[in-house]
Amino acid sequence: MSKLKVLLTGGAGFVGSHTAKILFRSGYKVIIIDNFSSGASKHPYGKFYKIDLKEEKEIIKILKKEKPDVIMHFAAFIIVSESIENPFKYYENNVGNTIKLISAMKEVGIKNFIFSSSAAVYGITEKNPIPETAELRPINPYGESKAMVEKMLKDMAQAKELNYIALRYFNVAGADPEGELGPSYLQPTHLIIRALKAAKGELPYLEIYGTDYPTPDGTCIRDYVHVMDVAYAHVLAMKYLLQNTNSNVLNCGYGKGFSVKEVIETVKKVTQREFKVIEGKRRPGDPPVLVADNRKIKQILKWKPKYNFLETIIQHTWQWLKKT
Ligand code: UFG
Repeated sequence: MSKLKVLLTGGAGFVGSHTAKILFRSGYKVIIIDNFSSGASKHPYGKFYKIDLKEEKEIIKILKKEKPDVIMHFAAFIIVSESIENPFKYYENNVGNTIKLISAMKEVGIKNFIFSSSAAVYGITEKNPIPETAELRPINPYGESKAMVEKMLKDMAQAKELNYIALRYFNVAGADPEGELGPSYLQPTHLIIRALKAAKGELPYLEIYGTDYPTPDGTCIRDYVHVMDVAYAHVLAMKYLLQNTNSNVLNCGYGKGFSVKEVIETVKKVTQREFKVIEGKRRPGDPPVLVADNRKIKQILKWKPKYNFLETIIQHTWQWLKKT
């Protein structure tokens, strides 16, 4: 088992790099394909190819040479607001380049695929926590791009063209507890990082995007999930897929939501710093509440989160940001 070879696209990015570290430490052979477009990690674990997924011929060559047993596909653009301003960028990379990758897999005969999907596929739901069976009604091109790939994977699995697990991540945050890896976006848009940057004095203030949502304090609620727990879910998903070839779609979140205001209070508590907060307008494309029903991943993969505390998530991100 431990000699298995796993290829990670986007393996130098946020979730990819943490997953690479766990795989590497567990004795798997790790191959990383990344174009470094997001200002990615400098600590890739494993053998590294700097290449963009649109280079299909080169990707085929790499797959033929490396013959991985499993491909984990992390590489994607992930910023909701940017996807609204520049939808083609999202469809071209998240859908178009995924099709190229799968086409390359087909040519080389690789069948096992772990896909980074997102809670953004759900949109505005009637129920929260959200079960995987909820109808997919994304409200932004980013979520749409992930839903399109999921649909394709479902059809292909039905036709026995591949086996896959799609993990629908909720709000991935935190950083490597050992302080080696962490989020490294060139222009961070995510709440926890922006709040910590405000605490650090790198932003003049933190703006809350909307205080008139139908939630108890009027701000959006999200299910923040530690990147190490998300990374570990990939290892479990891979083992599951290799053992029984059942394709599946699984939510990856803790099942507990925090509002923007609660996150800000926790950031102040963890950092012991005050910073200015202003109440602004809603940001387009934000659903009011996204919280995972995580019974399926716990049951099927026996996933046992280790870092499911907002304070821990913020503490680890703070430790990383202070260093960088
Ligand atoms: N927010 C603010 N101020 C900020 C930044 C964010 O109020 O400066 C708010 C947002 O409006 C939102 C919440 O904080 O209500 C969380 O926003 P993030 O930008 O941190 O994360 P998103 O929920 O927009 O998106 C993230 C990922 C997506 C993924 C989604 C799934 O970026 O890829 O979680 O839940 F799809």
